[in-house]
Amino acid sequence: MTTGHIMMAMSLDGFVARPDHSLDWLNKQATQGEDHGFAAFQGRMDVIIMGSGSLRTVLGFGDWPYTIPCIVMSRTMTDEDIPEDLRGRVEVSKLEPKALMGSLDKRGLKRAYVDGGAVIRSFIQAGLVEEMKITVVPILLGDGIRIFDSNDTDIDLELVTSTPFPSGLVDLEYKVKR
Ligand SMILES: NC(=O)c1ccc[n+]([C@@H]2O[C@H](COP(=O)([O-])OP(=O)(O)OC[C@H]3O[C@@H](n4cnc5c(N)ncnc54)[C@H](OP(=O)(O)O)[C@@H]3O)[C@@H](O)[C@H]2O)c1
Repeated sequence: MTTGHIMMAMSLDGFVARPDHSLDWLNKQATQGEDHGFAAFQGRMDVIIMGSGSLRTVLGFGDWPYTIPCIVMSRTMTDEDIPEDLRGRVEVSKLEPKALMGSLDKRGLKRAYVDGGAVIRSFIQAGLVEEMKITVVPILLGDGIRIFDSNDTDIDLELVTSTPFPSGLVDLEYKVKR
């Protein structure tokens, strides 16, 4: 089965975006060219899976930042909703997480970068996440969109590395224990 891998920036109080999806709090961090490993992480992945909420944010960036194929999970969108210049690189799927990972496995796409908010939660709940790289941003937002929510059972994690940066951001890398 294809495995899920997460790389996110999160406020200290656990939010990945403001309630209105804004990422201004992230963009204002003075990271002075620090390498938090985004390019290296993407280089290890075969495909990126994101929800329609994240697609809307990424389309707002202007330039498409991914070099690997992208699957957008949406129960309401179709391939027709994808901007023409991204067709062929971005496709829409209505499959639920387990079925999607099974279909990617058959296509030889073994490592999936799972991105979003609600989508990440559903992959965690389904036990499809193997690795989490979280950059903790030194800010308390008070409200917003979470990737961690209620679990049916505990999810035990093993800390692989922790790296503090001069900016105050801290990278934490975990493996999900089976
Ligand atoms: N801080 C960071 O590092 C970081 C990284 C990535 C994203 N973000 C931000 O975090 C926010 C996440 O927002 P979000 O939670 O709305 O985004 P999301 O997880 O990308 O998208 C959620 C949408 O995906 C669709 N979906 C389809 N199948 C699903 C399933 N099985 N489980 C859950 N959703 C499914 C649903 O919409 P329809 O079916 O109606 O289309 C759902 O509303 C965005 O603003 C994004 O830009 C932050």
